[in-house]
Amino acid sequence: MAKYEIIGGTPLEGSVTISGAKNAAVAILPAALLVEGVCRVENVPDISDVRILLEILRDMGVRIQEEGPGVLRLDATHITNRCPNPELVRKMRASYYLMGALLSRFHQADVALPGGCNFASRPIDQHVKGFAALGADVEETDDYVYLREGPDGLHGSRITLDVVSVGATINIIMAACLLPGQTIIYNAAREPHIVDLANFLNTMGARISGAGTEVVKIWGVERLRGGSYAIIPDQIEAGTYLAAVAAVGGNVLVQNVIPKHMDCITSKLQEMGVSIINYDDAIRIRSTGKLHHTTVKTRPYPGFPTDMQAQICVCMTLASGISRLTENVYETRFFGYCTELQSMGANILITGKTATVTGTKQLKGATVCAHDLRAGAALIIAGLAAQGTTVVENIHFVERGYERLVEKLTALGANIRRIDD
Ligand code: UD1
Repeated sequence: MAKYEIIGGTPLEGSVTISGAKNAAVAILPAALLVEGVCRVENVPDISDVRILLEILRDMGVRIQEEGPGVLRLDATHITNRCPNPELVRKMRASYYLMGALLSRFHQADVALPGGCNFASRPIDQHVKGFAALGADVEETDDYVYLREGPDGLHGSRITLDVVSVGATINIIMAACLLPGQTIIYNAAREPHIVDLANFLNTMGARISGAGTEVVKIWGVERLRGGSYAIIPDQIEAGTYLAAVAAVGGNVLVQNVIPKHMDCITSKLQEMGVSIINYDDAIRIRSTGKLHHTTVKTRPYPGFPTDMQAQICVCMTLASGISRLTENVYETRFFGYCTELQSMGANILITGKTATVTGTKQLKGATVCAHDLRAGAALIIAGLAAQGTTVVENIHFVERGYERLVEKLTALGANIRRIDD
């Protein structure tokens, strides 16, 4: 198993360019199944989750050409196999979007239950509730979901989500795209990648409004044709570099970002004493590495993202005083990394869904294990800030979501290398 070896303590200096958003890419690529024509997609991140998805789509008969770095042409006009390879589907979370896309285009879907980061129980009952409301007969087994057109046919519908779910919002948007009539999703999630997916589909000819608000409306169209689209920058990748500079210290220009998407993260870093300057599509961050304590509560967008919980926790471990971090989306998420941080000298007490973090002057290097993607990112930040050498094991999790991480950090002056066993 590959691992990262990090020698900590060097401030980060220079500039880093953020890649296309993972969570938008893993929705937009399956959405290409809805399109009869060529979708040209720019800013596709080269990460393992995307590579798996492309393998699934190729296996189904989608013609995929690489026009240049990060630019793909996908043509799903002639699908030869409507059953996505279950072994590949189980390797990632967002493969559940194949359900909505196949249901909409072919009125049936047989898709294995997804895998991916296992930091909590991650039900898909809201996705299923949406498919059923759209007229699908749903059969779930231990490892598969089978969707068929119900006796009254598939049609637009009104759906109120019981919980604000990114995945269910996106899956229902996709499923409704080619169905007759209007669909309205109430209590929809508002994350930037939902807006990105809707913009992509609208570019291809869909009729979706309200994405980015709590009420999304979809008017079904007969077919989607090709077009060209560029994926937004990755909010969480950008946040991870910002948290790294905050914790380690330094002066970095983070390029190719949408600063408005970053407000929920940058405002917390400012509270912790970091200097932030927003430009049109970049953020400059300066940090002395001396941070103040703060309070963070994760929430769906525009709140503080749960996907930044672990990274901000590392900043808290190095801040003066006592910080409080409350997880409101995935309560068991602390267990993926807090024990590892404690082995590096962090002082964290978990009570229910709140971590109380008492800052320490210095973390020390250790051998630690990534248990999921963002937990792994946090351990890397801790290693960059720590005294001595840190080895982060299980880095396949990190490589699901961070493009050219070692290269980007090395360019900022970090001492990190990937070791292949
Ligand atoms: C997406 C992100 C993930 C992020 C999460 C929350 C992708 C590919 N992944 O995951 O990185 O951590 O949003 O921002 O975009 N829930 C249910 N029933 C459902 C669906 C969700 O109870 O059918 C609950 C979940 O257990 C969780 C909450 O709703 O407590 C939010 O989950 P959701 O937004 O659906 O997360 P994902 O879309 O899986």
